Amino acid sequence: MTEEVDISVDFAGLKLANPVFTASGTCGYGDELADFVDINSLGGFITKSITAKPRKGNPTPRIVETDSGMLNAIGLANIGLESFIAEKLPILGQFSGAVFVNVAGEDIDEYVAVTERLATEEAIAGFELNISCPNVAKGGISFGTEPTEAARITAAVKKAAGGKVLMVKLSPAVTDISAIARAAVEAGADAISLVNTFTAMVIDIESSQPVLANRTGGLSGPAIKPIAVYLVNKVYNEVAKDCGVPIMGLGGIRTASDAIEFIIAGASAVAVGTANFGYKEILRPQEYKCKRIDRFG
Ligand SMILES: Cc1cc2nc3c(=O)[nH]c(=O)nc-3n(C[C@H](O)[C@H](O)[C@H](O)COP(=O)(O)O)c2cc1C
Repeated sequence: MTEEVDISVDFAGLKLANPVFTASGTCGYGDELADFVDINSLGGFITKSITAKPRKGNPTPRIVETDSGMLNAIGLANIGLESFIAEKLPILGQFSGAVFVNVAGEDIDEYVAVTERLATEEAIAGFELNISCPNVAKGGISFGTEPTEAARITAAVKKAAGGKVLMVKLSPAVTDISAIARAAVEAGADAISLVNTFTAMVIDIESSQPVLANRTGGLSGPAIKPIAVYLVNKVYNEVAKDCGVPIMGLGGIRTASDAIEFIIAGASAVAVGTANFGYKEILRPQEYKCKRIDRFG
């Protein structure tokens, strides 16, 4: 008989059955997962980023597999706020874990409008503020690279969140991630999540062109795990430990041991993203014979 172990956690005042969440953008809005996993076995669910209006996202190809990971340049494709409320929220409302809606936008007004509209929805436990998307021309990462900008948007969205938990999702593409975390916490963030993806590129050596139509994409999966663990540990030691703000750690988690590494590093909860796609982990050394090297301009 296996012994029942209590792995419940308190995360920013939310009592969770366990510390495992889905990572934004990798499990849609929950219903897509139903055939593969019982989402009620999770501590929480984080939705795909929601914007005020539906977005088609970037042109394809917008995903490419890499050694131990993948690059995506989805560009925040989503069904938009009103369809989310009408079609997806009722389903998420039946979920026993904590539902976080990941909010994105092109400017602060859009982030605030989306949050305000959702703030009274009982099904939602909190918001994840995406100020770290590397794959969009406007908004996205621009609020996550400057402490003053991070503070400005956090304070505005906190006011709109109506007392629900506000978690701010940080980009690893900064000189000092602790400075951004500190600014977010001082502006009212109840939790910090890290990391979002790392801007990267894959080149097709036959065409001498980047594989992704967007040229660059965000690298995720096991390839980034040791860097993500390091950054969680840095933010924990330099910011979170003293002020008691919990960290959601993510980046390359596939197994329970991976999750435990993040928790040892300072995370109170973890999220699993790329591993949900079941990407191929083995190296496939195709015998490319590179005929010529052309730089693309
Ligand atoms: C296909 C794909 C789509 C993603 N979409 C979003 C998104 O809409 N919003 C967001 O905040 N993060 C998004 N992310 C980033 C993940 O939530 C996560 O931060 C990152 O992938 C690192 O975790 P992982 O290595 O477990 O995937 C996306 C990642 C992938 C792979």
